[in-house]
Amino acid sequence: MKDYEELSEKAAEILMKQLESKPDSVIGLATGGTPIGMYRQLVSRFKREEISFARVTAFNLDEYIGLGKEQPESFYSYMEHHFFGHVDIPVASRHIPDGMAENLEGACEAYESSIEASGGIDLQVVGIGQNGHIGFNEPGTSFQSRTHVTELSASTRRANAKYFDVKEMPEQAITMGLQTIMKARSIVLLAYGHEKRDALAQLRTGKITGSFPASCLHEHPNVTVLYGEESEGEG
Ligand code: F6R
Repeated sequence: MKDYEELSEKAAEILMKQLESKPDSVIGLATGGTPIGMYRQLVSRFKREEISFARVTAFNLDEYIGLGKEQPESFYSYMEHHFFGHVDIPVASRHIPDGMAENLEGACEAYESSIEASGGIDLQVVGIGQNGHIGFNEPGTSFQSRTHVTELSASTRRANAKYFDVKEMPEQAITMGLQTIMKARSIVLLAYGHEKRDALAQLRTGKITGSFPASCLHEHPNVTVLYGEESEGEG
């Protein structure tokens, strides 16, 4: 059991090791509350000149549909604020699905092709929703799915409503598919807090079912799960 700082440090170390062994790694990134500490760690290591991201290519898991880059709730803004704005990943090497694309289907295909053209993801960071979603692959999503447009479930919208004015909470997103995630050569799943306890318990049963998307990870040969909870009396 880890506290949040330990979890974040461990996650940052896994990323650092990946870049030590392959400085031009392709990394898949997640947003949400959980990886903020990992990004904070990576930014401070970058500022201490312990690490460079200059040769990295990054692909984010997902983005809301209908939110422009300038909107603070977009994952574009999140990444600028927590990570990209502070490190040296070249702008051309940062990829986030375009939730404002006129042709959303085309944007999904282009995203998938651009991951393939980069040589594929070496290390993918994912979080997990209380309903077992990874990326925004909600229960029932095909394990064969590639980058696609998805309707956000009521559970996901409730969990993320804290970031939005209720009326403005998007109903759809573009997300890498489960197959896209599974093609990554290694995966790190980060989960923190008692509200993720049931999801982690479900994951640990080892049962593979479409009603719990994260369960597809049991079929991947190289997944690290980092889980932490608040210590008693905290949060
Ligand atoms: C974020 C994403 C989501 C989150 C998940 C957990 O890019 O794809 O699957 O990882 O909803 O979010 P937090 O960390 O806020 O609990």
